[in-house]
Amino acid sequence: MPSADRLAIVLAAGLGTRMKSAHPKVMHEVGNLSLVGHVLAAVKAAEIERIAVVVGPDMADLEAEVARRAPQATCHEQTERLGTAHAAMAAGPAYADAPRQVLVLFGDTPLITAETVARVSAGLETGADLVVLGFETDTPTGYGRLLTTNGSVTAIREEKDASPEERAVRLCNSGIMAFDGRIFADILSRIGTDNAQGEYYLTDAVEIAHALGLTVVVETAEEDELQGINTRAQLARVEAEFQTRARARAMAEGATLVAPETVFFSHDTRIGRDVVIEPNVVFGPGVTIGDNVRVRAFSHLEAADVASQATLGPYARLRPGARIGEGAHVGNFVEIKNATVEAGAKVNHLTYIGDARIGAKANIGAGTITCNYDGYLKHHTDIGAGAFVGSNSTLVAPLTIGDGAYLGAGGVVTEDVPADALALGRARQVIKDGMGASLRTRFAAAKAEKAKTGDGG
Ligand code: UD1
Ligand code: CA
Repeated sequence: MPSADRLAIVLAAGLGTRMKSAHPKVMHEVGNLSLVGHVLAAVKAAEIERIAVVVGPDMADLEAEVARRAPQATCHEQTERLGTAHAAMAAGPAYADAPRQVLVLFGDTPLITAETVARVSAGLETGADLVVLGFETDTPTGYGRLLTTNGSVTAIREEKDASPEERAVRLCNSGIMAFDGRIFADILSRIGTDNAQGEYYLTDAVEIAHALGLTVVVETAEEDELQGINTRAQLARVEAEFQTRARARAMAEGATLVAPETVFFSHDTRIGRDVVIEPNVVFGPGVTIGDNVRVRAFSHLEAADVASQATLGPYARLRPGARIGEGAHVGNFVEIKNATVEAGAKVNHLTYIGDARIGAKANIGAGTITCNYDGYLKHHTDIGAGAFVGSNSTLVAPLTIGDGAYLGAGGVVTEDVPADALALGRARQVIKDGMGASLRTRFAAAKAEKAKTGDGG
């Protein structure tokens, strides 16, 4: 009894020789997410019930990424890299029960959207046996060309096998195809290696289906969405396209980007309404920004939560685990790591706060450092609400500063400070009357002596 499910096979084996990399090609990242992670996200969002990923041998990191991004997916090893049809066959156990539909996607085509995946799948519901997703481009070099007669596709010709006339065709194969589950295994078994590269080409499925009298249909989407990545230059091009879309989405959802082309997002950046993002801001993975936040120029954020009304930067650095409370201020050259800055607190200048809590409305003076690491372990610093930490304080963790405590400037604070106490952790100042003037006289005389003997300067 055939399965009623749809199966997506994502082809992801190989290092991609032209990447010149030791890592699987699909583990390179766009918007700080692996290429295969993008494809899996689109397949999941399109609600394709089953996912099989074809990986190469010894690709534990890729298998871990698949488990992270799509825990329901199965991984199948293609032991030798003999072409895209051979790769699809490696997923044999996944389609042995003849799923209702089999979609094949490439792990190196990360900008494909869930809508397009759904559209290709829906194409099969209207009577087609095979749906091919193509795109029009002015720069078809490297892609398979879709050959058509009287409006229907008869074959896909790979660049290396194409005649000059075929190379002039601008309608290209994206690599995404959807098969009626009843024909998939049979068609795959008919694909051979009689081509310029001696590989099993999945693209031959079209010519075979055509010859069998089956209905092959082309769906199209924009080139921007279907660009494949074979080189680092293409990776950069796709990154640029990803950023263009992310910027447009942030603005459409109510954020002001003063210079959009200088702001860089990650795949999972979440930005509230009426947020202003000044030029040259980088969002690493895992950042959430509440409403009415201002992110000033040259700030760098990753794995951080910023509540509404807060202001950051210029030149703020939020590292993983930074949680910035409502209306808090994090100013220039301030680094926050694994620390909570509670509502209304201010950390405005030249400061490192790591493994800490800064209570509501506390004020942290310029140059404050939490000494959180002793070379072996990390320690926590807890600063109470409304505390005042004087400039250039060195807070040696573990340390607790009570609510409303007041720390004089320049202290090396090693002992807990009770609430509302004053702590002075520095040497007492000494005054010597007239000594400044006499020092000056002595130094001037020494300089004059040096000049006389000729080695002054
Ligand atoms: C392929 C298509 C081409 C299409 C282009 C779209 C074939 C023969 N060619 O060419 O028509 O225009 O993509 O981007 O299908 N892979 C495996 N095992 C293999 C070979 C490939 O898993 O043995 C995977 C790769 O990891 C990659 C995908 O399949 O994600 C496509 O392979 P790639 O070598 O990049 O094919 P292209 O030459 O780009
Ligand atoms: Ca490719």
